[in-house]
Amino acid sequence: MIDNDDEMVNKILSLKREKKAVILAHNYQLGEVQDIADFVGDSLGLSQNAARTQAEVIVFCGVHFMAETASILCPDKVVLLPDLNAGCPMANMITAEGLRQRKRELKGAAVVCYVNSTAEVKAESDICCTSANAVAVVDSLDSERILFVPDKYLGHYVSTKTKKKMFLWPGFCPTHVRILPEHIIELKKDYPQARVVVHPECRPEVIALADEVLSTGGMCRYARREDVSQMIVGTEIGIIYRLRKENPGKKFIPISEQAICPNMKLITLERILWSLEAMAPEVKVPEPVRLKAKAAVDRMLEVG
Ligand code: 13P
Ligand code: SF4
Repeated sequence: MIDNDDEMVNKILSLKREKKAVILAHNYQLGEVQDIADFVGDSLGLSQNAARTQAEVIVFCGVHFMAETASILCPDKVVLLPDLNAGCPMANMITAEGLRQRKRELKGAAVVCYVNSTAEVKAESDICCTSANAVAVVDSLDSERILFVPDKYLGHYVSTKTKKKMFLWPGFCPTHVRILPEHIIELKKDYPQARVVVHPECRPEVIALADEVLSTGGMCRYARREDVSQMIVGTEIGIIYRLRKENPGKKFIPISEQAICPNMKLITLERILWSLEAMAPEVKVPEPVRLKAKAAVDRMLEVG
């Protein structure tokens, strides 16, 4: 029986050593989960880390598509997702069959797939992207016609930065759509000096009011700049914990307290401990799908 967090953390850390595991956590994870992780980052950073880790077990503190990406990159490692219910609703807004049909309609268009997607959808795509590299990925392609799936808002943002013709799948993030332009307009009255930094999953009307549009990793780097002392932050509120921890003395104001991703919060210390003890639940992508999906992920990692 474990009755306090310190004891739980010690148990997790000792099991982690015993099982030769690494703990990777997304920037939206609960603060206590971020604190015990070996690496905290955005989807791109997490994929890059998974690709090069020497550990035998990856405990993925994030959502299902992130654990799948780790499994795609590291087929010989055990990838644990402490709660299998931690899905991404946006990733579930497209199926492989739906994508195949759209590809037939748009014959010849290159398919760029946001990493927030299932392995089956990645397997049907030419290349993946994350919020950190979406514009560079689209511009790296020879094709002038791009089918972008599944996030219409990230796709729209990219379309404002590229000359290519973009066809957008109508998916979106239910958490980021809660961030509204009127929230920013109100906050700017109280914090006129603050920089407005938003995630590209936000609505175009929100992006139009931002000083910077960045991935969560980009936001963490931006916050460290000497000329930034106040930041109005437009993304899931879990990132506020990391921003405050790394930048004492600076002010971080979430645009909306409602911007919570409930799936990200399913991963708790208890679940991590149980997962390491049971070595479950494991996320493993079947080999034929994995090989096709890996081609799309590897192609993205070459772009950076
Ligand atoms: P980042 O890759 O910017 O961390 O975004 C992941 C995500 O799920 C945003 O909702
Ligand atoms: Fe998916 Fe949105 Fe949650 Fe990110 S914040 S994992 S896009 S539901």
